[in-house]
Amino acid sequence: MTDSSADGLMPFQAMEILKRAKVLEASGRSICHLELGEPGAPPAPRVIEAVRQALPNAQGYTNAKGLDGLRDGLVGYYQDQHGVRVDADAIICTMGSSAGFILAFHAAFRPGARIAITRPGYPAYVNTLLGLGFGVVEIPVSMGNDWQLTGADIAAAHAREPFEGLLFASPANPTGAAVDRAGLADIVATCARLGVTLISDEIYHGLDYRGPSISALELTKDAIVINSFSKYYCMTGWRIGWMVLPEHLVRRAEILQQNLFISAPTLSQIAATVALGERDYAEEQKAGYATSRLRLDAGLRELGFDVGGPSDGAFYAYVGISRFSNDAMAFCSRMLEEAGVAMTPGVDFDRVDGAGFVRLSYAGSAATIDLALERMSGLLR
Ligand SMILES: Cc1ncc(COP(=O)(O)O)c(C=O)c1O
Repeated sequence: MTDSSADGLMPFQAMEILKRAKVLEASGRSICHLELGEPGAPPAPRVIEAVRQALPNAQGYTNAKGLDGLRDGLVGYYQDQHGVRVDADAIICTMGSSAGFILAFHAAFRPGARIAITRPGYPAYVNTLLGLGFGVVEIPVSMGNDWQLTGADIAAAHAREPFEGLLFASPANPTGAAVDRAGLADIVATCARLGVTLISDEIYHGLDYRGPSISALELTKDAIVINSFSKYYCMTGWRIGWMVLPEHLVRRAEILQQNLFISAPTLSQIAATVALGERDYAEEQKAGYATSRLRLDAGLRELGFDVGGPSDGAFYAYVGISRFSNDAMAFCSRMLEEAGVAMTPGVDFDRVDGAGFVRLSYAGSAATIDLALERMSGLLR
């Protein structure tokens, strides 16, 4: 396949940058990895220990929706964190949120249906939707508006080109933008008024720096909510997440899960059940991100990047490079080859305006952030 296929599938440039960074590392170069949204820390020690103990007896499939213990734990999570009662039967444990998207799209829509997403946004949204035969409507959000999506933006986009679904993340990737309760209520109400099914990607929940994460489930029973253990619980490679579905979609999603994936990985479900009780550990990691967030923001600003302000949540800075370049791919390539700093070009997230932006992840160590800023400074000054 060439870099852009007829149906619009594009490579994930963060992975391409990682591939090149690995080659450089193999030749002895030191690289600061700011290109991937992966926590640097492992899962909580109790998670690892539980898996060690479960190993001899965890070889089989689980039931399609997932272990009762995990789904009960998630019911407790919604009660404790969001004050919401969720039925364990409405929860399906998935192979990361990535598998949750596939189930959600096929449960709620038929191929050909149009789903709206923000631009910039997580690249897999466009690629998964196009790859599965759905249509994509992009709703632009801008740095001038703190990268926020509003009900008015949704209504205006819908008037231009109607869509059946809206896939929305708060906090978002790559911008880190997060809506408050009023902002989410506006989005939920607008979707209800337009007859649009809301898919709320809550993967960065727990990583809000300005206030508590608000779940769509606090405001409506009609949304499909998707979440994951990848980010807050530091478990990207365990491929474990979950979704909560409105009642009328549960059975169809379960049947799809039975046929597409059978069940989420058993050991990872056991790990996830324990992880839910390890929020103190997750909060320690978050405290590290919170420090890096401010350091990176100040450092990038001083170097001359266009910085809107520290991100509301997640662990990304999405910043403009107008002072240095109008070609983010070339800029990232130069940063990698000459400064040993890996970052992701904005074109991954925004095929229209992304050439003017780069994304840097501060999910790694504070020392990596400091070294990366020092190296960038050497090259840019
Ligand atoms: C917004 C968003 N959603 C979903 C995912 C996929 O996560 P996973 O499949 O590991 O749960 C990512 C990964 O970076 C993301 O940034």
